[in-house]
This record gives sequence, structure tokens and C-alpha cells, in this order.
Amino acid sequence: MTRRQFVEAASMMGAVGLVELSGCARPHDQAVLPAPPVASLREVGASRGILAGCAIQIARLRDTPAYAQLVREQAGIVVEENAFKFTQRLRPSPTEFFFGDTDYLVQFAEANGMKVRGHNFVWHRSLPAWFDGYMTPANAEAVLVEHIERVGGRYAGRIHSWDVMNEAIRVEDGLPGGMRDTPWRKLLGDGYIDSAFRTARRVDPKALLVYNDYGIEGEGDKPAAKREAVMALLRGMQQRGVPVDALGVQSHLDAGRGDVYGPGLMAMLAEVRAMGLKVLLTEMDVNDKWLASPIPARDAGVAEVYGNYLKTTLADPGVIALLTWGITDRYTWLNGEASRSDKLPERDLPFDVQLQPKPAFFAELEALRGAPRRG
Ligand code: G3I
Repeated sequence: MTRRQFVEAASMMGAVGLVELSGCARPHDQAVLPAPPVASLREVGASRGILAGCAIQIARLRDTPAYAQLVREQAGIVVEENAFKFTQRLRPSPTEFFFGDTDYLVQFAEANGMKVRGHNFVWHRSLPAWFDGYMTPANAEAVLVEHIERVGGRYAGRIHSWDVMNEAIRVEDGLPGGMRDTPWRKLLGDGYIDSAFRTARRVDPKALLVYNDYGIEGEGDKPAAKREAVMALLRGMQQRGVPVDALGVQSHLDAGRGDVYGPGLMAMLAEVRAMGLKVLLTEMDVNDKWLASPIPARDAGVAEVYGNYLKTTLADPGVIALLTWGITDRYTWLNGEASRSDKLPERDLPFDVQLQPKPAFFAELEALRGAPRRG
């Protein structure tokens, strides 16, 4: 049974409940029903006014046609995991820019009617090797402004939303406002964030400008403290007239740890909406490293988190987009991290290494189907 046949059969049933934990639909040997259109996250999301998509990897788009076809089928919005970052690849030197990957991404997306996210202008990680030796308090503002002018300007009008600032909050650093002690902050003070957003607005007035962060989803003291700092940052930006349009909630979640997504998260989403800002779920995946090895139970545990989290968050009409951080376990970033103790590959995304849909796919599909229609 091909993936397309499987998804058609499963979408005929219309509900996750009919899909067994193993992720395979029960054989449907009696009914003779018309084949409905193949269910896709992109199409079901669009039917609710939600942009559903995923992070992609340019190299795999280029060299793996089946992956590119899966992305076309399932993603109404894409972001590249790394191509737009201020890295050695994009910025080989202080005077050079490499746009080969970003041009390919934007052209692929536009050829397939997809929106594109830019990720990201300012971050404390993955900076070029020349950064520390070249940057000074005297040149840093000019370097930051030129970076946004050259990268943002190249694609002005073609980017749905930019993660202008990524992960500026780290309460553990003990700085005022819970600010992370980033290389840019060391060079420019806290004002670097306002400067980046003001430059981004000037360079691409059409793009939604997003502040993106993680660890603000769960209940408990640590996420609550980080949420408080993130909200204070956003309120301060608004009070200073800094152009910010949305909060990006990365949504890197864990299965098997009993995490609860509820009051604190929903209160934050409601406050963001009351501030006139939108919310994007920008990098969702569900780490299965805390679950025992057998695949059916792991997939069920991951799907349960997808379902619970998305039914909770998508209930807020301010949530306009949902991207998973990858579409298939085959290329998940999690296998490069401190991953499972049994060394088995992670199963954190909607499609497995054979590009077949998993229970997590149906949980996401059902959550999208049940979300209130936007706009
Ligand atoms: O491109 C170089 C290659 O030339 C070199 O040979 C190779 C080995 O050193 O490294 C390659 O760069 C790697 C890059 O991914 C592209 O594969 C970097 O080392 C590696 O650190 C980088 O990891 C990315 C990570 O962010 C750090 O930038 C992950 O793919 C990416 O999924 C991850 O994504 C982040 C989001 O941007 C922000 N939120 C958290 C999320 C997960 O950490």
C-alpha cells in the first residue's frame, strides 16, 4: 500500500480512532466508497484558515524527490532549518553573502504556492567563525543593519514572516528582564533587539515580524518565569513603538514526562492576542527519548502529545500557523542531539523514515480539522 493509498484509506475513515496504534488503518474490505482527496495537513489547515507546514532541508529537497513531493503535498508554509541564519554558509566573510540556498528555497516555495518563513536574523548560536574576531561595539550596529538590509531586502515582499529575534530570553543568566547574555547583547546592549525589528520593518514592510522562543509551553515554575520575561519583552517593545507582529512559540515538546499544556500557555496566548499580536507555532516536534523502545507505544505517546497540545493551542484563534520542525523522522535534528539512551532513532515527526504517515500525522490532522475557522 503506497502512502497515498494509505492516507486515502485513513482519511475515508475520517478519525484517528480508527487508525490502530501501529499507525496502519484496519483493512477496509467491505465498503466501496469514492476515493476522497488525499488528506493533507496543508489542505486541512487551509480549510480552517491555518497555515500548516514544516521546516525543510534544502539539500534533501534537491537530492530526494520523494521528500520534495511529501513537502509539496503537506506544507502550505515552509522554513529552512538553517539557510537563512547568520552562519558561515550564508556569510562566508564580513563582506560576502551566499544566497544559493535561500534563493532555491524561495523559488521552490513560490513554484508550489507555499508561504515562506525567514529564520532568523539574530541568534546567539551558529555565528560565523569570523564573528568574534571581527565584531566590535563600534561596528556591530552597522553589521547587524547591513545583514538585515541585504538578506531581508533580497526577498522583500516574498516572506510571510521573519523570526527577527530568536531566543533572547534566558532567565538563568540572571540579567534584568531575564535577557540572555548573547554575543549581540555584549556588543550593543539590550537595544540590539529594537534595532533589528526596526530595520526589518523598514526593509520588508510586508513581512510579519516575529519574536521566537522555546520553553514557554508547559506548566511549572521554569516555563512560567520564561513566559513572564517574554511577555515583558513584548510589552516593552510595544510601549517603545518597536514594530513586532507576532510571537513564535517553538513547541519543542517531550512525550513521557507528564508535561501539561494548559492554563499558563493559554493565558499567554490570550494576552498576546489582546495585545493585537498573532501566534505562530514555529518548530513543533515531540521528543520520544523518555519513552520505552517499542515503536507502537512510542508512536502512541508522541501522537498523544501532538493531539493534546494542538487541540489546546489551536483553540485560540490568534494562532495562525503551525509548522513542525521537519516532516519526516528520516532527517530530524533530534538524532544529532543527546538523544535516546537505547540509541534508536527518534520518532518525533508526523511521517516516519519511509515517509509514511504515523499516528502523530493523524493527531495533527484531527487537531487541525477540529480547530475553529480563522478569518
Ligand atoms: O553546514 C555545516 C557543514 O558545512 C559542516 O560540515 C557540518 C559539520 O560541522 O556542520 C554543518 O552545519 C550544521 C548545520 O546544522 C547544518 O546541518 C551545524 O554544525 C549544526 O549545528 C546545525 O544544527 C542546527 C541547529 O539549529 C543549530 O543551528 C539544526 O540543523 C537545526 O535543526 C537547529 O534548529 C534550531 C532552530 O534554529 C532554533 N530553535 C531550536 C532548533 C533546534 O536546535
